[in-house]
Amino acid sequence: MKILLINGSIVGEKTKILLEAVKTELEKFSADYEIKELNLEKYDMQFADGRPKDDYNEDTQSMIDEMEAADGYIIATPIFQGSIPGALKNLFDLISPKVMRYKPVAIVANGGTFQHHLVIENQLKPILDYFRSLITPNYVYTQSAHFSHVNEIIDEDVKFRIEELARVFYYYMQMSSDLQKGDNLSTDF
Ligand SMILES: Cc1cc2nc3c(=O)[nH]c(=O)nc-3n(C[C@H](O)[C@H](O)[C@H](O)COP(=O)(O)O)c2cc1C
Repeated sequence: MKILLINGSIVGEKTKILLEAVKTELEKFSADYEIKELNLEKYDMQFADGRPKDDYNEDTQSMIDEMEAADGYIIATPIFQGSIPGALKNLFDLISPKVMRYKPVAIVANGGTFQHHLVIENQLKPILDYFRSLITPNYVYTQSAHFSHVNEIIDEDVKFRIEELARVFYYYMQMSSDLQKGDNLSTDF
């Protein structure tokens, strides 16, 4: 089974650092899982406009392929304008709503303010609820003060929460493996 680590931003470092920390923890739990990375800054992603997949450029097609092939996702996002970055929303717009159905998702996010953790609740989770993903009950939200001046995670509570996120996500992966084999995926509603 494949876990896709999505860096949902084309700028910045902290979301990448968070993803690496989650990856390190996941590797302790899930030697059986193939872990891949989808870093949006490495792709020439076209705007989603509803055209067939084959009509997008090669990079955009390969992003859609990676999304479709994954069995679970860790999504890392910065907070932009009280919401998620347009690049991450565009990735969601490129895929069928069925692609992430019944698949586990864990979220890590970073913002410049403490208050905007609510973006996860109010902006990101509703999209994943629409997709019917299995969102872990815990997420990790960090703020600049949780990092050193060279972007190392220095907050012990954040480190603990990342460990816990990986642990819970691992069990969600196990839980979802049978669910995804069901024929529910063929329904349109
Ligand atoms: C265009 C833009 C909009 C932003 N809007 C918000 C915001 O609404 N709330 C917030 O907490 N941080 C906001 N930020 C701060 C980013 O979330 C923060 O700079 C980023 O997560 C830091 O990561 P980095 O050091 O890796 O760039 C914004 C940053 C940019 C570039």
